[in-house]
This record gives sequence, C-alpha cells and structure tokens, in this order.
Amino acid sequence: MSVNKEVKRVTTHTLQKMKAAGEKISMLTAYDYSFARILDGAGVEVILVGDSASNVMAGHETTLPITLDQMIYHASSVIRGIERCFVVVDMPFGSYQSNSEIALASAVRIMKETGAHAVKMEGGEEVTDSIKKIVSAGIPVMGHLGLIPQSIYKFGTYEVRAKEEKEAVKLRKDALLLQDAGCFAVVLEKIPAGLAAEVSAKLAIPTIGIGAGNGCDGQVLVMHDMLGINTEFKPRFLRQYLNIHEQATQAVQQYIRDVKSGDFPNPQEQY
Ligand code: KIV
Repeated sequence: MSVNKEVKRVTTHTLQKMKAAGEKISMLTAYDYSFARILDGAGVEVILVGDSASNVMAGHETTLPITLDQMIYHASSVIRGIERCFVVVDMPFGSYQSNSEIALASAVRIMKETGAHAVKMEGGEEVTDSIKKIVSAGIPVMGHLGLIPQSIYKFGTYEVRAKEEKEAVKLRKDALLLQDAGCFAVVLEKIPAGLAAEVSAKLAIPTIGIGAGNGCDGQVLVMHDMLGINTEFKPRFLRQYLNIHEQATQAVQQYIRDVKSGDFPNPQEQY
C-alpha cells in the first residue's frame, strides 16, 4: 500500500505520549493484508502479527510450530495493508531463545524482510540480554509477561499466572528488567487485574493487557476471537463483538442453495 503523507503514523513515541495522557491504546492481531486494511482503517493504534497465527491461521494446537519464515510471510502481508498503524511482529519460538546473536539475526530478518516496526519477545530476565542487543541495533522491542504461550509445556496449563506471591514477585521484577533493557511496551497476559494495575502504575512504558483487567495502559485481543471467526475459544476475558463464524456459515449455505437451484448466476451476473 502506498504511503499517504497526510496520515499521521503511530510510533513508539505516540504510544508513550498516550500513556502519559492516560489515553488507552488499542491493539489487535492480524495476519494478512485484507484484515490489516480493516484494522488500520478502523483506527486501531497497534497491529500485532502474533504467533497466534500458528493457532488461528494454521490450526496448530500451540504457538510452537510456526517458523520465522512463516511469521515473515504473515508480517509482510500485513504491512502491505496498513497506512498508519504501528506493526509489531512476534519472534517465534526457537528464533531467539538460544543466544543474543541468534535473537538479533532473527529480529533483523523480520525488520528487513517485512518492513514491520518492532518485534515482540516472551519472557523476563532470561531474555534481557537479547532485548538489549536488539534494542541497541535500533529495533524496538515489546516484552510479554504472565501467560507466555511459547512456554506452555513448561507450565502445563493456560490458567491465570502469578496468582501466588512468589510468581507475582518475579513478574514485578521482570517488568522492571524489561523496561531497563529498553522495551518500549510490555504485554501482560492473563494475570490478576490488581497486579497488572500495580505494574502499569510502576512502569514508565505502556502495558498492554490481555485477560489482565482494566488497569493496563491498553488492551489486545486475538482478532479471530473478538470477531467470532473461531468460536471454540471463549475465555472469560474475551468480549466477542461479532459472530462471523455463524454469519459466514449462513452466507455459504445460501450460496450453495442458489447454485443448486440455478438462481445464481442470474442474467445480470453473466456476460
Ligand atoms: O500471539 C499473540 O496473539 C499474542 C497476544 C495474545 C498478545 O501474543
């Protein structure tokens, strides 16, 4: 999509100013050109090309199988659909955990090959060396704490995280470490609302919550969940704004009826 010079692009600076002004940040996931156009046109500030693509686009049970090449394909499609949004791309499992050199190489590929504006990494203290290296190369990094789906087999459950004080202490410490390492924002996933509000008040950088209550500086949802494209996943934190699954099913059934009855195409729909 060509750049319209009239459009004011969202930057990390915009997000920082929004936090300072108490203006909430809206973020949604997208994985392709057409939905990115809808989200960008509707006015969302941040699009996350989440590794949830592994679930909602590829049908995998977890986010682990998606590859760096596949994330790059999704992100470059999204970038062609936006004019003003800030686009963050998830670094997939295996692309940054080994060491900071590999992490930087993966982040550089994402930035060079997609035209995206930032990357996101899951984890706290364990990934701060890599975050520092990536940030010092000029690449903005969004952190991700709480429920971190790439570690699902370590925790064994998608339950609310940091309910116990020991884990809450680690999360508070990790949030400050991510900020010190240079993250411009941090996602807080599925943690108690009180803890998320406390961390959000403590940090100078914006927090974006998912299942973390109203005290965060912004909110994110997986687009397929909030639009009701997938109907199987209905956690308590999800607000479903549409039921595309039902509407699309009805539309397809009507099309089948029209084809079978000979109603489609009619004389106006042929040459
Ligand atoms: O991959 C993703 O969609 C995410 C969000 C749930 C924050 O990381």
